[in-house]
Amino acid sequence: MNKPTGSNADATPASVATGNGPRHVAIIMDGNGRWAQQRGRPRLFGHHAGAKRVREIVEACPSLGVEYLTIFAFSTENWKRTQSEVAGLMSLFRRYITSQARDLKKNGVRVRFIGDRVRLEKSLIKMMDDLEEMTRDNTRVHLTVALNYGGRDEVARATKRMARDVAAGKLDAETVDEQTLTRYLDTRLLPDPDLVIRTSGEARISNFLLWQSAYAEYEFIETLWPDFSPEVFAGIVQNYAGRDRRYGGVKNA
Ligand code: IPE
Ligand code: IPE
Ligand code: MG
Repeated sequence: MNKPTGSNADATPASVATGNGPRHVAIIMDGNGRWAQQRGRPRLFGHHAGAKRVREIVEACPSLGVEYLTIFAFSTENWKRTQSEVAGLMSLFRRYITSQARDLKKNGVRVRFIGDRVRLEKSLIKMMDDLEEMTRDNTRVHLTVALNYGGRDEVARATKRMARDVAAGKLDAETVDEQTLTRYLDTRLLPDPDLVIRTSGEARISNFLLWQSAYAEYEFIETLWPDFSPEVFAGIVQNYAGRDRRYGGVKNA
């Protein structure tokens, strides 16, 4: 485990000065339940504390040189949780959009959602669509929220759309390559993540951005998501700048 080294998120980190920082950071926000449990509180208390953290992490992005931030809010597997936890999370997402929409727009944050919307409630889908529309001209930070998202599900849905286009004569199957599939993914407008962070000490990716993270750097940290501060974030971004990404090649070749 790398220890974050940054102590002041406002200071310009070396990674920004050198241009070696991650352009796109993706975060698996894990550990809300354990954070609540440690305090003898219900799991939803942890989810609320976790949601409060998002704003300051988004706001820390520009000074860290991060243009794209993608956060995992609800996975295609999270429906397995109790009905009351799922309902609580869905109402938290609604409450979050309602309370944050104006500030997100004002602060230059462009919001996008990825994941399968079909299973979500109509009223929530409408709020997601409206927020995307409201913030579509913003460019300061690109915030993507993965909601009912699973990497395998995304590739399966992309493949289905691609197959339909082949059947309709809009796409020649012989020309299909990696770039073609990339264009059918939910993330088609985003660059690949440079750095994927998972909080809470679990060293797995739980079906997050499988295709897109083929060459991402990973950082697994013990901190539970509700304790993830801009200082911890800045430290991880600085660690990233010291890594040597070879993409299968040889250093300095
Ligand atoms: C992550 O926290 C948030 C969601 C998956 C919605 P968890 O709820 O998974 O927290 P732990 O892993 O049980 O501590
Ligand atoms: C991954 O966390 C999903 C989100 C953070 C939204 P989980 O807590 O659902 O993952 P597992 O079950 O530990 O793999
Ligand atoms: Mg978890």
